Amino acid sequence: MNTTPPTTAFSPQAFSLKGKPAFITGAGSGIGQAIALGFAACGADVACFDRDARAAQATADLVLAARGRAIGLSGDVSSPDSLAEAIQAAANSFGPIRTAVNCAGVAGATAAEDMPADDFRRIVDINLTGVFLSAQAEARMMLAQDGGSIVNIASMSGTIANRGLLQAHYNASKAAVIHLTKSLATEWADRGVRVNSISPGYTLTPMNKRPEVADRLKAYASDTPLGRIAEPEEMVGPAVFLASAAASFVTGADLVVDGGYVCW
Ligand SMILES: NC(=O)c1ccc[n+]([C@@H]2O[C@H](COP(=O)([O-])OP(=O)(O)OC[C@H]3O[C@@H](n4cnc5c(N)ncnc54)[C@H](O)[C@@H]3O)[C@@H](O)[C@H]2O)c1
Repeated sequence: MNTTPPTTAFSPQAFSLKGKPAFITGAGSGIGQAIALGFAACGADVACFDRDARAAQATADLVLAARGRAIGLSGDVSSPDSLAEAIQAAANSFGPIRTAVNCAGVAGATAAEDMPADDFRRIVDINLTGVFLSAQAEARMMLAQDGGSIVNIASMSGTIANRGLLQAHYNASKAAVIHLTKSLATEWADRGVRVNSISPGYTLTPMNKRPEVADRLKAYASDTPLGRIAEPEEMVGPAVFLASAAASFVTGADLVVDGGYVCW
């Protein structure tokens, strides 16, 4: 069981993901792609899931080129059937999944008073319901096996309202992911499944090539104590930590990885 305390002194091997097949949503781009490559570098076989089939396969190909083991799987996080099928396909290739990172997400910007109900629902459907459905499908396999670790990608926008960005739907969806994570963590703690979230700050991915963000990146960098925005690779170490045995007593936590942004 994942909840069993360690019986030996700490070893760097605790960070290894060898023998822990991983399922990663949104793996076709940005943070999800960086995490898929990083997990493979730490020894995991990785199932790269994305609604963009070619992007999912391209990430799997990058892992294969680096001599890791990976498959690309296409599907949508708002569909329970699509998730169940993909997780079974991952298990057929590598054995039951032991870790999962839920990165799939979308953003947008509209003034709240003008926001069509369907825009609000679409963001919540992918960013919140999609994370719930992903975690549910992943935990069904982990609970039936030897436990596991789930990492949800939330955002610092779940804690702050970004200055100058009109994204009430996005911010609300991310705040809910942080609390969903705590709720799932407590439900599954005694059955060996840990659930945590990471809240990235501004990160250089295609999501931030949206004009409303791209124009403000310099200002965001100077509003960050570390003086810059993040590279996607800087989300890998935190995700490896939370997924691995090094975090055996960590569940229900939200790890803010923002260069100190929320401190100011
Ligand atoms: N980039 C940032 O500054 C930043 C900051 C905080 C949090 N985040 C969060 O990190 C996560 C990854 O963002 P990113 O910046 O790498 O974005 P990205 O746009 O580069 O990647 C998102 C990926 O998710 C996939 N996706 C979208 N909807 C999907 C769906 N319904 N089903 C399956 N796949 C789907 C896309 O095809 C894409 O490959 C998101 O949840 C985002 O909200 C990003």
